[in-house]
Amino acid sequence: MGIKILTKDIDVPGIQNFQVYRSYGGYNSVEKALRMTPDEVVEEVKKSGLRGRGGAGFPTGMKWSFIDKKSGKPRHLVCNADESEPGTFKDRYLMSKNPHILIEGMITSSFALGANLSYIYVRGELMYVVNILQRAIDEAYANGFLGKNILGSGYDLELHVTCGAGAYICGEETALIESLEGKRGNPRIKPPFPAISGVWSNPTVVNNVESIAAVPYIVNNGGEEYAKIGIGKSTGTKLISASGHINKPGVYEIEMGVTVEEFIYSEEYCGGIWKGRKLKAVVAGGSSVPILPANLILKLANGEPRLMSYESLSDGGFATGTMLGSGGFIVFDETASIVHNLWNFERFYHHESCGQCSPCREGTGWVEKILHKFLDGHATMEDIDLVADVAKKIEGNTICPLGDAAAWPVASAIKHFRPEFEWYVTNPEEACKPGAYYTGDKLVLA
Ligand SMILES: Cc1cc2nc3c(=O)[nH]c(=O)nc-3n(C[C@H](O)[C@H](O)[C@H](O)COP(=O)(O)O)c2cc1C
Repeated sequence: MGIKILTKDIDVPGIQNFQVYRSYGGYNSVEKALRMTPDEVVEEVKKSGLRGRGGAGFPTGMKWSFIDKKSGKPRHLVCNADESEPGTFKDRYLMSKNPHILIEGMITSSFALGANLSYIYVRGELMYVVNILQRAIDEAYANGFLGKNILGSGYDLELHVTCGAGAYICGEETALIESLEGKRGNPRIKPPFPAISGVWSNPTVVNNVESIAAVPYIVNNGGEEYAKIGIGKSTGTKLISASGHINKPGVYEIEMGVTVEEFIYSEEYCGGIWKGRKLKAVVAGGSSVPILPANLILKLANGEPRLMSYESLSDGGFATGTMLGSGGFIVFDETASIVHNLWNFERFYHHESCGQCSPCREGTGWVEKILHKFLDGHATMEDIDLVADVAKKIEGNTICPLGDAAAWPVASAIKHFRPEFEWYVTNPEEACKPGAYYTGDKLVLA
């Protein structure tokens, strides 16, 4: 069993209750941090090498050091618990099973940032999580870990849990901030970045649930200890949401650096491909990242095994690599239709585009429509390049990265699975038959 940091106590009966959590060493990092200076806490997080778990992998300590301390304005920490990326369900798992680990991380991190008013922004559909978090927050107030003069230190912190209405775009940090302020969740133009002007125009740090929940371990054990876990610049552990055609879907905490092969096939994690079938493809980091066929997800171009880490998954760039993203690991067996799956993803992006930028608003709609022609049996060979071209024109031409997120899956699916798109054009009667799937040379009916 690999090292567990975030899920170590997750199955302890009653861990949702303050006293049980406390008896397992919970809130020790708050006591320790309050004996340090805020800058010392930031320094430990820098040393840990922790990178943001929300998708982009930006170094957390560095992000914290960008917060504007000179303006004299109030500062805020906002926890991004919107978790809307298809294939990603780790944050809700952690928050619902062990809410106090996030509250503890919020207090320690807010202290480091000099924030006296912080927020947890939860996806609207996750009302049950809101209730669990609110109960944990109430307990933390009742026990002197939130509110005025925490543990007699002179440090004050108010923590609110707030929720959206279930829009994917509200996971993008500036749209989240707009929504938190009670407005429509449209992304803001950057700069200014939230570290300068965020919630209520005050300096703000937005971090993912998992990033914040890792902070108590870092403060308790020191950044250097955390940095010893994992591999290269991918330090620590990572929660992976594993779904699709595997024997054991679920949330797994891995030490960074486990091989992809071990993750898919070992009993400790996914337990192999279901029904004894073959692996066809993997979307490794949530629907926004490039899809890779079996050979490229298991091995690097030089034949070495590919690892579950930021560097290894992106090795080869977008030609032969992908991204760790949010850790939404979706596995496809040999019977899966890449074309149908891509259409399904693109339908999502079209629905979730906020509509602010024309390339995304219009482009995602056209991508969805053209892809549907394949499923209807009306597509032509030109449509393959046309849909790739439309996607390319969205990429990089929008205020926020939702446009890129919609474009990358299209480019990678066509790059790696072009013959399957061609099959839908040349043999529509076969390809569109329910249960039919592409094997490269012959039609198979499942
Ligand atoms: C369309 C879109 C949706 C996003 N959804 C989420 C989300 O649900 N949760 C999250 O933590 N980050 C999400 N992000 C990334 C955030 O903008 C931001 O980078 C992240 O919360 C920073 O936290 P981290 O540094 O701890 O990773 C999303 C980004 C985009 C463009």
